[in-house]
Amino acid sequence: AYVITTPCIDVKDGACTAACPVDCIYEGGRMFYIHPDECINCGLCLSICPVDAIAWDEEISPDRQAFIGINRDFFTPA
Ligand code: SF4
Ligand code: F3S
Repeated sequence: AYVITTPCIDVKDGACTAACPVDCIYEGGRMFYIHPDECINCGLCLSICPVDAIAWDEEISPDRQAFIGINRDFFTPA
């Protein structure tokens, strides 16, 4: 699945939400999050983000690995 990472924090451009055909990108606090089960992996949001915050989880850089869990946890009730 695609995940949103560090550069989105306090930037929240929002262009990705307009590009997403299934509306699975949600605002929450200081950044936006992609719902891992609703995302259809179309990749349309990837190049739209002006700060390059969106990544494919299997190609994510090590320093951004934690955001896979952070995106998932955002949608998981504690
Ligand atoms: Fe939405 Fe497609 Fe991006 Fe998933 S990959 S968040 S479905 S635009
Ligand atoms: Fe954030 Fe980029 Fe979307 S800054 S809100 S991931 S367009």
